[in-house]
Amino acid sequence: MNPAEILQQVAQETAACTLCPLHHGRKNAVPGSGPADAEIMFIGEGPGFHENEQGLPFVGAAGKFLDELLAGIGLGREQVFIANVVKCRPPGNRDPLPAELSACDPYLERQIKAINPKVIVTLGRFSMNRFLPHAKISSAHGQPVTVNGRLVVPFFHPAAALHQASLRPTVEADFAKLPALIRAAAATPEAAQPSPTDSPKEEPKQLSLF
Ligand code: URA
Repeated sequence: MNPAEILQQVAQETAACTLCPLHHGRKNAVPGSGPADAEIMFIGEGPGFHENEQGLPFVGAAGKFLDELLAGIGLGREQVFIANVVKCRPPGNRDPLPAELSACDPYLERQIKAINPKVIVTLGRFSMNRFLPHAKISSAHGQPVTVNGRLVVPFFHPAAALHQASLRPTVEADFAKLPALIRAAAATPEAAQPSPTDSPKEEPKQLSLF
């Protein structure tokens, strides 16, 4: 199967998935969207109300802000793949539970392997902790690390800056680092050669790009 077919299969499976209780509140699964050959993959937390209605990631207020942040660095949504750590909406937008994250992770793993992005940007702590289990977002944000040979950059979740306006300059400054990081990842062969699994199996190595 080619990458686009794998993504389509993941989308079909998530639409019918009953591996965790989140399926009870599902109107639409939100597997993710974007090109199968995207060089950059953004991974958020989980669908909210509007995403559950439409089956698309980041279409509510946080998505509008994400679009602005992308536009600010010259990127359009059509150039990046956007996914979430859980594909169905947690009730009332609560945090995803460990069992829900584990149940959904194989879908994300398959998406990452199929897309094979040069850079993964995690949005928020749940996504960050998927790659960097012990990291704290307050100190890890904006700091690129390689995890199993792939560049991972933790960012605050855009919704955090909507709830706390003082975070906005920090979020914008982190996004401003992204073009240079993408160029560096493209120019560094080892950063573009991930190992067979993207689950963290080793301590991440710090990159010294800054
Ligand atoms: N927040 C997320 O983490 N993901 C979405 O798709 C929407 C809002």
